[in-house]
Formats: sequence, structure tokens, C-alpha cells
Amino acid sequence: MDTNPALARSTPEFGPGTATAARIASAAPMSARALSVRALTHSYGGTAPAVDDVSFDVPAGEIAALLGPSGCGKSTVLRAIAGLIRPNRGIISLGTTNLTVLSARARGIGMVFQNYALFPHLTVAENIAYPLACQRVPRPERRARVAELLALIRLDGFGSRLPRELSGGQQQRVAVARALAARPSLLLLDEPFGALDRALRFDLQVEMLRLQKSLGVTTLIVTHDQEEAQSLATRLVLMNRGRVEQIDSPTTVYDHPKTLFVNSFIGHASRLPGIVEASRGHEAMVRLSTGDTLVLKRDLQFIAGAPVVVTCRPEDVRLLAAPGPATIEARLTISVPLGPTLVHDLRLVDGTEIRATEMRGAAGRAAVPGDRVYIQVDTDRCHVFPRDTGN
Ligand SMILES: Nc1ncnc2c1ncn2[C@@H]1O[C@H](COP(=O)(O)OP(=O)(O)OP(=O)(O)O)[C@@H](O)[C@H]1O
Ligand SMILES: [Mg+2]
Repeated sequence: MDTNPALARSTPEFGPGTATAARIASAAPMSARALSVRALTHSYGGTAPAVDDVSFDVPAGEIAALLGPSGCGKSTVLRAIAGLIRPNRGIISLGTTNLTVLSARARGIGMVFQNYALFPHLTVAENIAYPLACQRVPRPERRARVAELLALIRLDGFGSRLPRELSGGQQQRVAVARALAARPSLLLLDEPFGALDRALRFDLQVEMLRLQKSLGVTTLIVTHDQEEAQSLATRLVLMNRGRVEQIDSPTTVYDHPKTLFVNSFIGHASRLPGIVEASRGHEAMVRLSTGDTLVLKRDLQFIAGAPVVVTCRPEDVRLLAAPGPATIEARLTISVPLGPTLVHDLRLVDGTEIRATEMRGAAGRAAVPGDRVYIQVDTDRCHVFPRDTGN
């Protein structure tokens, strides 16, 4: 009945065998629907609202990540979508259905909470079956659905264990299975891998992507881990202090940050304070606080005399042993190997700190901490922001 031909087509990437294909198809939602959040505002009673005029979309069947520092309002947005709090203002819809007027239970949403709690006294199978029992799904169907989901999360044979008899990662997968049990049209994941170590997080991210792709369920994942967001989501919604700062693909957010906050939150960005000296056409000259001048080929909206901060990524800063055209003098503070690269922290003559990376093999005579070096910044890739914004 709810066999989705699109899913049947996508099953080869999931694994061999028609039995698996049938399992996926029957665990799939009826059809993916887009999530729309408009002007969502919520205050818990404090002075500033926890969530302020937040709008974004998650296209049907896609996975988006809500990203931002602790306390910026991510969980509040999720709770409002799930119907666990009643927001002061805003419209939330799934496809053509206005969720705002529905009770939490009627919304058909699967959710994994920030501190994922399985019922400790129920077995794995009973945990997964719980939402189905609430819906009074007949026992034989419940059993069949639990078996499908256990296979889907690769925990066949674990049904009779108690949560405390599982590893953290296995418990996490059971929480995801429980969220998927009632075939939701929307899956909400709040920091689902927060408590786990890095290697396990990565494995579960891959697993989650596989599950999400095979089920095609529209998914919103909350995280404050930018790498997790970048690896999982096709769309990032960046929040800061209750507001959305940017919504774009991971690469656009990285290459074209709209604000200094976004620039610094996604990846590392060194900040060089300066004053706009002159600006004409697509070129601007910025005099840095070191006295050096950078010629930036960017469409700058700044007038001469404006205090700005120029930002650059570590991979766009080159280290040289001798001065050359447009080099800036620096002193090496520390060099740290990180996988195939060397990360150098440097200090400019006025104390400004700047980071550079280079491939380990590419380094010529290795500079040592304390050495005077010269850096060259790829000015085509720098960004400029007014100095009084950002945090
Ligand atoms: N039940 C509550 N009562 C009062 N204030 C709350 C409540 N829940 C959250 N807040 C406040 O609302 C703001 C947003 O909280 P929220 O839990 O949405 O943040 P978050 O982005 O999920 O943070 P984290 O990454 O730490 O989980 C915070 O300032 C928080 O202190
Ligand atoms: Mg939270």
C-alpha cells in the first residue's frame, strides 16, 4: 500500500536482496513532505525571546541542519515544530498541513531528544514498539514493524535486551528506530550523537545518512557541531541568539558567509582589523592595524575611513621565509601537525593572531616557533565585515 517506487529504485545503494528492499519500503513514510517554518517566535518569559522571527524550509525528503552555539534556540525551534511548546507566534506546516493547530500527537512527527532517553525498564523491542502501542496498532503488526526496524538499524537479535545492556551508539540507533516506528512524515533529531565519541559519531552519521536516504523522510537535525552539520545536511540554517543569520548549502556558507558570526562559526577565520583607505569599483584598499595594506578585489560596500575586519581562512594564508610583494611580517608562535597538514599559529607585529595551514610535505625549511616569517594572504578569498558587528 505504502510501497514507494522511488524507494524501491533507490534500494541497491542500501544493500542486496529483495527482502531488505521490502523492509525499507514498508518502513517508509507515505510520501515525503516539505517542512516550512515562518516567523516563529517564542519567549519563555525572559527579556529577550529564545527564538525570534525564525523562518526556514526543509524541502521534501531532504535533510537540513539547525546549527548554532549553545543557548541560541535550536531545541526551542524543534520543540515548537514537534508541538511540545506553543510558540507565541509563527506558522509551521508540513506539505499543505498547518501543524500549528494540531496537537503534538496528531502531527505525525518522529523525534529523538537531546538527552535521548530510552525507557530503561522496557526491552529494545518494547521501546521501539512504544509509539505503535500508543496508536493501538495490533500486536502482530507491531512485532513485524519492530523486526523491520531492528534490521534497518542493524540490531537484529537485540530485541530482548534492556537499554543498559547496549553501548551508547546502539542505544542511539534504538532511539532513532523508535522515532521512525510510526512512519513519521518528519524526523526531528536533537543533538542525536552529542554524548558519543568522535569515531562512533562518524559511524552513526554515515548510518543516519544511509537510513535517511533509504527512507526519504524529511529530516531536521539539530547540532552545534559544524562538521556534523556539513557532512549530514544539504542545507544549513545558522542561528545566533534566537535569530537566523544564514540559510545556504554547506559550501556556500563556508565560501560566502553573510556575517562575521557565520564566518567564524563555520571553520576557522582569522580576523585582521583595519580601516578602509580607498574604495573604487570592485577594489578596495584596507590599511591593517599592522600598517600593511591589503588590496581586496571584492564588491565592498564600505566608505573610506570605515573600521572593518578582514577575515581569512588558514588555507588561504601562505608562509614564506623571505619578504616579497604584499607580504606581511609575522612571528611563528606554534606549529601543530594535523593529519596531512601543518597548522601554524602566527602573531603579526601589532599582536594580531593569524592561522595558516600547509601540506606537511610541501613545507620547505621548517620554521620553528619564534622565527620571523612572512605571510601572503589570498586576498580574492578574504571577507570584509564592519568592525562593530559580530561577536
Ligand atoms: N524551559 C525553559 N524555560 C526558560 N528558559 C528556557 C527553557 N528552555 C530553554 N530556555 C532558554 O531559551 C534559550 C534557548 O534555549 P534552547 O534550549 O532552545 O537552546 P539550544 O540552542 O538548544 O542550546 P544547546 O545547544 O545548549 O542545547 C536559552 O537561553 C535557554 O536558557
Ligand atoms: Mg538544545
